Amino acid sequence: MKSYQSMDHFWMPFTANRAFKASPRIIERAEGMWLHNDQGQKVLDATAGLWCVNAGHGRKQIADAVSQQIQTLDYSSPFNLGHDIGFEFAERLVKHTPAGLNRVFFTCSGSEAVESALKIALAYQNARGKGGKYRFIGREKGYHGVNFGGISVGGLTPNRKGFGPLLPVDHLPHTLDIERNAFSKGLPEFGIERAEELEKLLSFHGADSVAAVIVEPISGAGGVVLPPVGYLKKLREICTRNDVLLIFDEVICGWGRLGASFGSVKFDVQPDMITSAKGITNGVLPLGAVFVKDEIHDTVVNSAPEGQVEFFHGYTYSAHPVACAAGLATLNIYEEEGLLERGSGEIGEYWEQALHSLKGLPGIIDVRNCGLIGAVEFATADGSLVGPKIMQRCYELGMSIRAVGNAIALSPPVIIEKEHIDQIVDIFTQISREMFQAK
Ligand SMILES: Cc1ncc(COP(=O)(O)O)c(C=O)c1O
Repeated sequence: MKSYQSMDHFWMPFTANRAFKASPRIIERAEGMWLHNDQGQKVLDATAGLWCVNAGHGRKQIADAVSQQIQTLDYSSPFNLGHDIGFEFAERLVKHTPAGLNRVFFTCSGSEAVESALKIALAYQNARGKGGKYRFIGREKGYHGVNFGGISVGGLTPNRKGFGPLLPVDHLPHTLDIERNAFSKGLPEFGIERAEELEKLLSFHGADSVAAVIVEPISGAGGVVLPPVGYLKKLREICTRNDVLLIFDEVICGWGRLGASFGSVKFDVQPDMITSAKGITNGVLPLGAVFVKDEIHDTVVNSAPEGQVEFFHGYTYSAHPVACAAGLATLNIYEEEGLLERGSGEIGEYWEQALHSLKGLPGIIDVRNCGLIGAVEFATADGSLVGPKIMQRCYELGMSIRAVGNAIALSPPVIIEKEHIDQIVDIFTQISREMFQAK
């Protein structure tokens, strides 16, 4: 039963409001792999919400921890006061980060984690007497949230257009190359030379003006764009040689999505900072974090006079105790159930084989995958946009996906079983035949 008269008042984010309100998709509850809508239909959540519900919906352990925390300590200021659960959570989290990234700055979202990482980079360069390093380098198709720093380094045109001059940034070329790499299983073979473009940008702007490079190990919101073999290591090598920080935005790639705690662990490339959010609390409560190398933290903190605030930055809800409780319970589940590595095992192999079985079906021009992320890219004869129609048809057939242009992005909860993967493949097979087979 609806408890409201009108949908007019809620201005929905990143949504075609008029189209949605004319034909709403309302979810009433969720459990495991499934969303339940207001039509009594079960909808397979093939995107883990927005790439975040990695341990599946409705985990009682998390609900209990949240409820308990609210009754114990609902909130206290994170400025000049502390609480045990914030320190405990930070200590537990860094057991999963690459060696040396042992400091945690808490935020409330991925966007804020990105803003914080960019500011930490500037604070670090200033603290070591290199204040002239103020510029950032992002990448085309990159998504780093919606705040001004994030859209500056981000590389998705609609998110940047019309929002003013933004920060001083430049962008690497993206690495999507369907012509050379279509239907690659795992990391694509061709494209390492696109990392060399960083050398050109650094020499064009002067490396002494660049604070940091920020990229997602795998771009999610840009359409599941994978790094070619050797690409991330090359970026690392160029950053190190030029005294430029490397930030990995792992808001999507973290917490089991790629079959490891982080993309940096999976690909064995160590960044100077990692941004995280989403799966860190299984999507249950908003919380983000920046994992920072000890040396960066120490340089900033030790450069301020004793007794004074070292970094003028923070949020009312940094390390919110209730969000930390959700995060700790989530981490327990990930560890107890082996979910961080699950995507690297048998289920990850099944995912790869199943998605690639779609090769050859009408309209499908690429399938890409890594861990438990994937994309199926469609193309029409006249180059028109079909992603939104495919999204609608998937929903009618009982599956929630994300369309990025004509690429259908998939990122299911990592608890996924073979039967769910089969269902995903069946729905795509049906849609390909319905919408793309010559009549
Ligand atoms: C790589 C990346 N960074 C940052 C963000 C922003 O996170 P949030 O929506 O929590 O602000 C996202 C969200 O999808 C993301 O994919």
